[in-house]
Amino acid sequence: MGRVGFGVAAGCAAATCAIAAVLVARRASARARWRRAVALLREFEEGCATPTARLRQVVDAMVVEMHAGLASDGGSKLKMLLTYVDALPNGNEEGIYYAIDLGGTSFRVLRVEVGMGSVISQKVEDHTIPEEFMGSSEDLFNLVALALKNIVEREDGKDEKRALGFTFSFPVRQNSVSSGSLIRWTKGFSVGDTVGKDVAQCLNDALAMCGLNVRVTALVNDTVGTLALGHYYDEDTVAAVIIGAGTNACYIERTDAIIKCQGLLTNSGGMVVNMEWGNFWSSHLPRTSYDISLDDETQNRNDQGFEKMISGIYLGEIVRLVLHRIAEESDVFGDAADSLSTPFILSTPFLAAIREDDSPDLSEVRRILQEHLKIPSAPLKTRRLVVKICDIVTRRAARLSAAGIVGILKKLGRDGSSGPASSSGRTRDQPKKTVVAIEGSLYQDYPVFREYLDEALAEILGEEVAQTVTLRVTEDGSGSGAALLAAVNSSNRQRQQGGSI
Ligand code: BGC
Repeated sequence: MGRVGFGVAAGCAAATCAIAAVLVARRASARARWRRAVALLREFEEGCATPTARLRQVVDAMVVEMHAGLASDGGSKLKMLLTYVDALPNGNEEGIYYAIDLGGTSFRVLRVEVGMGSVISQKVEDHTIPEEFMGSSEDLFNLVALALKNIVEREDGKDEKRALGFTFSFPVRQNSVSSGSLIRWTKGFSVGDTVGKDVAQCLNDALAMCGLNVRVTALVNDTVGTLALGHYYDEDTVAAVIIGAGTNACYIERTDAIIKCQGLLTNSGGMVVNMEWGNFWSSHLPRTSYDISLDDETQNRNDQGFEKMISGIYLGEIVRLVLHRIAEESDVFGDAADSLSTPFILSTPFLAAIREDDSPDLSEVRRILQEHLKIPSAPLKTRRLVVKICDIVTRRAARLSAAGIVGILKKLGRDGSSGPASSSGRTRDQPKKTVVAIEGSLYQDYPVFREYLDEALAEILGEEVAQTVTLRVTEDGSGSGAALLAAVNSSNRQRQQGGSI
């Protein structure tokens, strides 16, 4: 080989080495980035861990807070609000009743006909609240009243006197079963000047302005409506839980256990208590830095901590925050991950669709990443990582919900723990059959969530006791249950005739 040839060959070899070195360095840095992504994932997973022992601590903390909330107003973050519902529908209700179900940016109007122990017919109309009606309570309630007027005039004529159940799914301090003032908005929803006002009065004023002869006879939380419908069909129903955009629970409490209203007497000796469990807090809850970032983004900072780990408004956002951090620190999504910096861009239905994608190449995950997050080409292992994050968030939420439910059962002595263990020689009390009415999109429309919740319930309670507990979905319970409660509390019904608790 001549000198020139030797020089060229040496040059080529050097260039090849340099390219190889660059490739090796790139591969090493890609590996390091991937390792960082996996490390962040592991850290998040550990932070969200809910082993049974921890869930039991959450159960006990829930019971302690329930006692504190029942003892005095402000005694706990759990408000344990009085509902003045001391009688639940029992099948004696008859007639036509209306209901308004308002829980966020949409509302429903219902016309329910009941008799002979069942719902004979039911008409439901859905409405969304346009932005321009969220400025003042007057605008909001006029809009709702007009929607009701349409259906009343069409179906029954506006002069007919009718009772209305008003489901208002926010914390309300009630003065009676048909009145109460809004304590604060939740779920990111708010309408101008409504806090502190009697929302039933606001609606009654708007109804009168419309010339309608319809009045609110029951102002209820959505959990209370759900409990009413559940109890209507099965008297073993003692509690109700909502796990949808927001989360909450209510249950039937003995009046003498509600220390904060000493002297209060009810015919039945019991009253439904709206726990507002979304605001429950305990140091046993597995809180991560992402939960703190989420809290900082919300208009109700330091409140609704349990809700922010469980409910539909927030779960997608927790996943978004984790993905954003991974994108920033590991670059696994490439340059195209800008959309991940947009708060609330990933809604919970997408989280559910990602977690439930069982195609071998995770094609639905790819589609969601491409179309909604503008991440064009995430490789399969990155898509798997995204699925895993959605799984962690779902699992924690479902398991914490289960712990909340067991908390109620424990408070009621229905968790099987009250009797002495059989090993002591005495027999354990036979646990009673217990039904918990349940509603909300997370439980109803997301099978993985439901499976995790059911699994955790059995884990905490033990298989034998879990067999005695039924979670029963009540379709449209929040609305039709309110119509039934309107019936129970309407003046044309003799109180002594019905309504059991
Ligand atoms: C509200 C509750 C409601 C729950 C479910 C929460 O944000 O505070 O009153 O029951 O959402 O809709």
